[in-house]
Formats: sequence, structure tokens, C-alpha cells
Amino acid sequence: MALLFKTRPPHRTVSIVGTGSYVPERVLTNADLEKMVDTTDEWIVARTGIRERRLAAEGEFTSHMAAEAARRAMQQARIAPTEIDLIIAATITPDKPTPSTACLIQHQIGATNAACFDINAACSNFLYAIEIAHQFISNHTYNTVLVVAADRLSSVTNWEDRNTCILFGDGAGAAILRYRAGSHGVLSTYMGSNGSLHDILHIPGGGCALPVTPENYAERPKSISMNGREVYRHAVTMMLQAAREALDRSGLSLHDISCIIPHQANMRIIEALAERLRVPLDKFYVNLDRYGNTSGAAIAIAIDEASRSGRIRPGDCILTVVFGGGLTFASSVIEW
Ligand code: ACO
Repeated sequence: MALLFKTRPPHRTVSIVGTGSYVPERVLTNADLEKMVDTTDEWIVARTGIRERRLAAEGEFTSHMAAEAARRAMQQARIAPTEIDLIIAATITPDKPTPSTACLIQHQIGATNAACFDINAACSNFLYAIEIAHQFISNHTYNTVLVVAADRLSSVTNWEDRNTCILFGDGAGAAILRYRAGSHGVLSTYMGSNGSLHDILHIPGGGCALPVTPENYAERPKSISMNGREVYRHAVTMMLQAAREALDRSGLSLHDISCIIPHQANMRIIEALAERLRVPLDKFYVNLDRYGNTSGAAIAIAIDEASRSGRIRPGDCILTVVFGGGLTFASSVIEW
């Protein structure tokens, strides 16, 4: 018996065994935005590639979107909610400051045996959560983990600020991770942050540093504030470095990668990344034209769509890479 405690079991391979996503029904087009702020469809498409985005209905919160994406992932993985050991909810727009959105999702889907917590790595959320799940499964702590990235960015968007309101949308994406014998699964992961850039992309108010008061309410301290040019500059550099790092760690080259799933923030950022990696654009999966930037949910939704549409197939190796507020960045190479 003593030997059992002295001998570390070998690390286990971890696979994504099911994915799901959900976007709300309501569509907000660039033409709709033309009626709200001083902008044009031509400007938005040329500068971002975005044509429309989805907005949550009144009373439809982050946990509701997340729970629906989770149900779809469970259905694809053919697992019951009671088999889930851990729920990691990745969001910057929780239903409320406490308890965690993960606990609210647990309640909605009936995952009564799960431990629950939230993380906040902004747009890098999904890949950060994948790495945490990967650690818990590979070291034998848990067998089945639900990762769900969801955001209702419309609730922290200043709809009078044309610099930011054109960019964002609402949605959720989920993945079930498990040990799976005979599969390579998650081949490599990489995460990084640069907190010295915390204020180029942030929500300044609503925390203890700047509470919302009747006096400052009109200045919208709880809305996203962004220095777009600075974010763009760092995003390209960070995503390039993160992509190379995940590839190095996996031992693969870009030739082995059949699809790159980048953060869905801006088409120009993706084009710059493609150029610097010397990879044709058609190797990238892009859906930002339909959903805009849904923060942490963006990569999760894209992976689910790419898998369900056959763009990625079992045995394919994919590279996924992201950046976000913090600034944070992350990447992963996954054998599907
Ligand atoms: N419609 C029309 N004109 C606009 C709009 C708009 N919606 N927004 C800004 N402009 C104007 C500006 O006021 C400016 O006018 P001026 O020259 O008279 O001052 C002009 O257009 C150029 O503005 P820039 O900010 O220089 O435009 P830029 O080419 O940099 O594009 C953009 C702006 C699209 C935001 C770009 O900087 C960008 O993509 N940055 C990265 C942002 C990003 O991806 N954020 C993600 C945030 S969340 C996350 O995923 C981490």
C-alpha cells in the first residue's frame, strides 16, 4: 500500500470528446449599427471583417448560454451530467459577482457531482481553461471535465462608442475533456501574460478600484475601454510567439497542421498572422464575419463549428492561438 503513495502514476493523455456551442437568435447587422453610431458597413468590414453579431435576449444571461452549449457538448460526448467531475466556467461577464457562473451552470444542467469554479483570462479564457482541465485529468485528479467559455459582452459594451461597439457579440462554447486511451489528444499547451499592459483593454469600473456610483454612472465605468491600435500591435506579436511556442512544444511543424483556429477578433489581425507564419489564409477557420468578437467563447464556438462541419476530422492536428485583455495569450496543438 505504501508503494502506491510513493509511485507517481504516469501522466494520462487527454482528449476533447465532445464540443457544443450556442449563439443567441437576435442578429445585429452593420446596417443596424449605422443607425446607432456614426459608422458605415464599409468601414466596419474593411477594418475588422465583421458583418453581423448576435445579442442575447433580455433575461438571457451568460449562464443560460453556457448551459446550452454544455448540453450540446454532453450530447456529442454521450455522457450524462452526473459523470462530470469538474466545471470550469471561463467568463468576464458572470451573471453576478458571486457565486461563480460555474455553480449556476451546474444547477441548470444537473451536474450534481461536479466541483465548480470560474476563471478570468479575458479572451484567452477557453485555452487557459483547457490547460487547467488538462492538468487535472493528466495527473489523475479528475476523469471528466466540462470547460465552458461564455460571454454576454453586450452587457459591458458602450453602445454609443463607435470605437468598440462594432466589435463585440454574445455567445458560448463548451468542451468535454477526458482521458482517452489510444489517442494523443491535447499535444501541447502554452500560456502567458503581460500585466504591464492591463489598461490598454479593460473594464475600468465595477470593482473595488472604481465602484459605480450615482456620480460616475453616466461615464459608463463598467464598459469596455480599449486602445485599439496598441491592442492590434501587441495582438499580432503575441499570437505569433504563442503559435510558434505551441508548435515547438508539440514537436510538429506547420506542415502537420490541417487547420489553424485563431481568436476571432479582427480579420486584419488574422491576415497579419498568416503573413508572418507564411501560411495561406484558407488554412485558418474564420467565423468572425457572423459573430464578431465573443471574447473567450470565440475559439470554443469556432472549434465546435469546424468539427461539426467536417473542416476538422478525427486524426487532424489543429493549432489554436489567442490573445486577450491582461494582456494574456495562449495556444495549443490538439490532435482531433
Ligand atoms: N466607424 C467609422 N470610423 C471610426 C469607427 C467606426 N466604427 N471607429 C473609429 N473610427 C475612426 C476613428 O475615430 C479615427 O478617426 P480620426 O482619424 O478622425 O481620429 C479613424 O476611424 C481611424 O481610427 P483608428 O482607431 O486608427 O482605426 P484602426 O484602423 O486602428 O481600426 C480597430 C480600429 C478596428 C479597433 C483596430 O485598431 C483594431 O482592430 N484593433 C484591435 C482591436 C481588437 O481586436 N480588440 C479586441 C478586443 S477584445 C479581445 O479580443 C482581446
